[in-house]
Amino acid sequence: MRKRNESVALVPTMGALHAGHLALVDCARTLADRIIVTIFVNPKQFSAGEDFDAYPRDIAGDAEKLRAAGADLVWIPDADLIYPPGYATSVRVARLSETLCGPVRPGHFAGVATIITKLFALIRPDIAVFGEKDWQQLAIIRRLNTDLNLGVEIIGCPIMREADGLALSSRNAYLSADERVAAATLPKALALAAQAIRAGDDVAQALEQARTKLAQAGFGPIDYLELADEETLAPLSANAPRARLFAAAYLGRTRLIDNLEV
Ligand code: PAF
Repeated sequence: MRKRNESVALVPTMGALHAGHLALVDCARTLADRIIVTIFVNPKQFSAGEDFDAYPRDIAGDAEKLRAAGADLVWIPDADLIYPPGYATSVRVARLSETLCGPVRPGHFAGVATIITKLFALIRPDIAVFGEKDWQQLAIIRRLNTDLNLGVEIIGCPIMREADGLALSSRNAYLSADERVAAATLPKALALAAQAIRAGDDVAQALEQARTKLAQAGFGPIDYLELADEETLAPLSANAPRARLFAAAYLGRTRLIDNLEV
């Protein structure tokens, strides 16, 4: 591809691909000559006790979907190729990794920053495409790309949602039928809070009402439900030009995250 002077877009994934991932491939196709998709369930971004072993894996199904979506190359490296014996380096993005999901997922964002730095170094893409559902991850990747002068153009693609508003996620597969119905309360609570904040309501009160809605729908515990600056992720107590709502909450054993522009 390089010899032919073709531009390359990278879509890094952990597999178990759904329509949200395929939308990233569609987006990549409009931006570059060639699309490389990686599938790697990155052990370094799972904290102790998280779902690394249980994380859904479907290489055959993923390969089929990517072929149909028009990916040019799919790379599925083994963990010992990425992290060979003696591997000792970690990339940590300060501040942005210490808020929202950071405190409850120790080591997660260092794991993400490390694998993304490695994938950028190995593949040297012109463009890399990420979903906006993991907004904090996207903000961290933008920061590390700037700070380390990696020179990749980072593109965020809008969240893909089910008809009832639930953001697509590989982890939705963990939800029982009842939980799946209740899960739609998360985007609804965020939408109502966003509407209230835009209308000038008190932010703390709007957030409290959203927390109550989640609790009534069976969510708990709520890791966070916050208004924050979408670039710095610093918390906001009043509406501001870059204000965005962020939430992470458990429904049964499944942890769901979502975010919405205010
Ligand atoms: O969002 C994901 O699927 C992962 O965090 C990523 C970006 C592929 C890094 O492992």
